[in-house]
Amino acid sequence: MDMNTNTERSWINLPSLNFNLKVLFSSYLMVMGFGALLASAQLLMTHGMADGKIGLSIDDIVYSYHGDPSHSQLETKLNGSMKDKAPQKERIKIIKWIRNGASEEDWNDDIKPIFDQYCISCHNTMPALPDFTQFDAVKTVAKSTNGASASTLTRVSHIHIFAIAFIFFFSGLIFSLSVGIHRWVKALAISLPFFCLIFDVFSWWLTKIHPDFAWITMISGIGYTIISIFTWIVSMYQMWILPRKGQKYTVNAWRD
Ligand code: HEC
Repeated sequence: MDMNTNTERSWINLPSLNFNLKVLFSSYLMVMGFGALLASAQLLMTHGMADGKIGLSIDDIVYSYHGDPSHSQLETKLNGSMKDKAPQKERIKIIKWIRNGASEEDWNDDIKPIFDQYCISCHNTMPALPDFTQFDAVKTVAKSTNGASASTLTRVSHIHIFAIAFIFFFSGLIFSLSVGIHRWVKALAISLPFFCLIFDVFSWWLTKIHPDFAWITMISGIGYTIISIFTWIVSMYQMWILPRKGQKYTVNAWRD
């Protein structure tokens, strides 16, 4: 029996989808879009601040994955956003103390008075900041930063790959129903995010070994962000705006 005698029923493409499928696909895309925004906000707040400056940069990626074994956060801050808080001479004293192992003995004798004079007006009064009247709080930021551990990376690597691959699978499935897009552009927009995903995860490990690889993390992240925005907009547009333009799309997107 030929199921396709009514050709109108075999127009499988985004503009001609039935209403409830459009609602289902759009709801999925909306939730994923919202999730992506939340993820970016979280990324900016955690990794984005890793180097002490606002905004995501190569340094943030290096700090997060490679760490900076030769500098503590305290030293980085004293050369960064806290540079103007104490005179040069006092800052150098603190940095020398950190490099000599940040002992509690020297803290009590020489360093605590500097902190009392220049730092605790904020670092004892603002609840979001570490309380530098406490030696333990200073000790914590005086430790060198080692980046992500292998066990953390192993855990986040596979969770990241499985979870994101699922997201790309469904958004790619929806986008595969679009019309009027060259088949190779379509094939690239569907497959590249998966490749970026592998490069992304791979680059965390490489960056842990050598900071120069942070560029791959940056490029693959930007890569799948741009492609996802493109497929998201095309899918939504073709489901809800294109059909209103009056033209009928009599193609089966799954038959090329
Ligand atoms: C005028 C208020 C103020 C003073 C004075 C001040 N800080 Fe800060 N400090 C901040 C703020 C706000 C932040 C968070 C923003 C940032 O990281 O730049 C911060 C963050 C830090 C951090 C990072 C803490 C963390 O957990 O992320 C360190 C380390 C630090 N300050 C060290 C110092 C030292 C050392 C001094 C004294 C020489 C000092 N600060 C003086 C306001 C101050």
